[in-house]
Amino acid sequence: MSAITVTWVLHDGAQITAAVAPGTSMMQAAIAANVPRILGDCGGNLACATCHVQVAPEWASRTGPATDMEDPMLDMTEVERGPTSRLSCQIIADPALDGLILHVPA
Ligand code: FES
Repeated sequence: MSAITVTWVLHDGAQITAAVAPGTSMMQAAIAANVPRILGDCGGNLACATCHVQVAPEWASRTGPATDMEDPMLDMTEVERGPTSRLSCQIIADPALDGLILHVPA
């Protein structure tokens, strides 16, 4: 499978776009692309909430809602959660997400 394209939009409007291999989490991809403020301190184990992103509204139906395990962690994010908040370690690249846009909280 070929890589998908993902864009992170930073608080100041700057954008970082990267090619992401299917199967890669958006937290891993953000770190590889040097996206600021995505730390992934727990390595993707749903224990830190330092990988918080807000999915662009038009993509939210494709990424889906937070899982039952993820939802309580979203109450612990540094920036208050919004309606499309997800922990990006729980969003895994697949071809249906090609073009995905993620907003990085300030
Ligand atoms: S990397 Fe820790 S919760 Fe996502």
